[in-house]
Amino acid sequence: MPPFDVIITHLELSPEDFKPKRSGRGDVAFSQVGKPVPELNRFFYAAIGGRWFWLDRRPWTLARWAAHLADASRIETWILSAGGVPAGYVELEHKDGGAVEIDYLGLLDAFIGEGLGAHLLTCAVERAIAMGATKVLLNTCNLDHPKARANYESRGFQAVRTEVKTMEVPAQPPGPWEGA
Ligand SMILES: CC(C)(COP(=O)(O)OP(=O)(O)OC[C@H]1O[C@@H](n2cnc3c(N)ncnc32)[C@H](O)[C@@H]1OP(=O)(O)O)[C@@H](O)C(=O)NCCC(=O)NCCS
Repeated sequence: MPPFDVIITHLELSPEDFKPKRSGRGDVAFSQVGKPVPELNRFFYAAIGGRWFWLDRRPWTLARWAAHLADASRIETWILSAGGVPAGYVELEHKDGGAVEIDYLGLLDAFIGEGLGAHLLTCAVERAIAMGATKVLLNTCNLDHPKARANYESRGFQAVRTEVKTMEVPAQPPGPWEGA
């Protein structure tokens, strides 16, 4: 594929603008992965992001993942389960200056479109505020799920800037695993 203009939108949420929305299901749980489990982060990254051109970390080795997650006071991983089944995840990162960034957030395909995306984002923002966030940051781009930005804006996030990066993007996303 020829070089592609990736439009990255940076969004921010001030805690006072937060509009939480929970699932009505009684069987959802949001649980912290209490110690680094690099295989788990790698699984969600590839299984969710494989449909949406999350490519940067695909070549990461186990050691690279472990190093990334090693400082539990900087990076937190939380899993959303539905009916006891892991459905999605979020990676939260303390940033300098008191902000917390949602580095990755997503649901496995089988759980999209049931109200769990709003619930996952609500739980993620609540956790970020509990971590002391003065602001919650994230970014999305024109390669992400078409509803991703609406999900963020519905919870009170506002776009603060956009940037365009021209990148080599494959014609098709890689899928959840090699050869899938
Ligand atoms: C983004 C994602 C979490 C949303 O999950 P979801 O299950 O579709 O979300 P929900 O059904 O809970 O809906 C949440 C919000 O999405 C938006 N949305 C959902 N369905 C929509 C539709 N048919 N039309 C317009 N907006 C819609 C709305 O803003 C909705 O919030 P609201 O009901 O308060 O208005 C999910 O699609 C996902 O994980 N995608 C793959 C990974 C990804 O793209 N992650 C984001 C990277 S930045």
